[in-house]
Amino acid sequence: MAASFGAAQVLVASNRGPVSYEVREDGSLRAKRGGGGLVSGLSAIGPDTGALWVCSALSDGDREAVRRGVGEDGVRMLDIPADVHADAYNGIANSVLWFVHHMLYQTPLEPVFDAEFRRQWASYETYNRAFAQALAEEAAQGAAVVVQDYHLTLVPGMLRELRPDLRIGHFSHTPWAPPEYFRMLPDDIAGQVLRGMLGADRLGFLTRRWADAFTACCERFAGGLGGTRIGVHGLGADADFLRARAHEADVEERIVALREEIGTAPDGTPRRTVVRVDRTELSKNIVRGLLAYRQLLEDRPEWRERVVHVAFAYPSRQDLAVYRDYTAEVQRVAEEINERFGTPGWRPVVLHVKDDFARSLAAYRLADVALVNPIRDGMNLVAKEVPVISEAGCALVLSREAGAHEELGEDAVTVNPYDVTETARALHEALTMSPADRAERAKRLAAAATALPPARWFLDQLDALRDGARD
Ligand code: G6P
Repeated sequence: MAASFGAAQVLVASNRGPVSYEVREDGSLRAKRGGGGLVSGLSAIGPDTGALWVCSALSDGDREAVRRGVGEDGVRMLDIPADVHADAYNGIANSVLWFVHHMLYQTPLEPVFDAEFRRQWASYETYNRAFAQALAEEAAQGAAVVVQDYHLTLVPGMLRELRPDLRIGHFSHTPWAPPEYFRMLPDDIAGQVLRGMLGADRLGFLTRRWADAFTACCERFAGGLGGTRIGVHGLGADADFLRARAHEADVEERIVALREEIGTAPDGTPRRTVVRVDRTELSKNIVRGLLAYRQLLEDRPEWRERVVHVAFAYPSRQDLAVYRDYTAEVQRVAEEINERFGTPGWRPVVLHVKDDFARSLAAYRLADVALVNPIRDGMNLVAKEVPVISEAGCALVLSREAGAHEELGEDAVTVNPYDVTETARALHEALTMSPADRAERAKRLAAAATALPPARWFLDQLDALRDGARD
């Protein structure tokens, strides 16, 4: 029996893996780093740790890599049929579960749980089963498996049935919806999600608030947590990686180009910068951020010509119409501000939409103010990354609804993400903070932001999973 078990002692499972492939014109494959908070966090777990990362093939390049047997050590990509993946990822994970946990539904964008939803749900089950089976094949006797995020909520329960010998963990990188919102899901589906998760020995969340919401859902709809343990692990920024990466040549080049775009104020001093870097994601609240900046320029004309909003909004989930519309809206509002206030020598909003990690780091280094105003966010790593590498001792305007607010709230300027007027005032406050105050706060922000670096974050979870008595 034991002979049929795989060899991996530690396994990670997530929809998006650490690497993705592009087919070049000459037919060769080019590997790229995957994006998003989950991958940034888990990238610290290099192949040298001996962990196996099971993920999904997401692009044509990924599927081609699987077919050609191209891959990285420690990574197994699953070539799940494209239509099954699309139903599970676009249909269920991103259009339903993401919306529920971020409480994004609003009229007229409300869920319709009909026959089409049921069909997509069946794909979500198939997709989860493919992960459970691959993990069951690869895991050594008694191995530890940490399943990631809302794409894979059924995996712990399925894997428990296939391999009762394993230590199974699950980690949520998103918020968890409170029971009053979660109950929007059909009863049987809500039950399946909770029971799937409760198949794990231990569940991890980014903040106490999300862990409590999950516990409350279980108490209301699943008769409690059973034997499943709950832990909170507030993923921090990777200071060593960021500081080194932010001084590489490509970042220096981007700094020169960005300084050019930002320009100088009429008195010859460099313009101040309000920086944001996000996926173009509804929960990130980019449009209200732009509206707040517009109100700042409206209410406080003294800032005209003296400040630039550097906004990077990188494409995300473009298969979904609601994301495409949101992307267009972001661009429309940015253009409107530039038309309304711009002058020949001053572009009030510098918006870039092409994903460029080196340019993001350049913007972090130049930031005077970072604007992080999500409607709801599991953690938000940008809020933690900027203070670590900003050169000017960046002030942070931070939504009270970001998980990061639990750790950074004291030294940030807090905003209600829906309140554009308050956000405009907060931008002014951040821009006028005395340099000494800003520097002091930035130092404390950077310390709090790096308190739990990714490698430690992951190892803590593994230790707790292996040692049943710790929680
Ligand atoms: C969030 C989720 C991750 C996801 C990332 C990027 O951080 O928690 O699971 O990978 O967004 O989204 P995407 O849909 O592009 O993977």
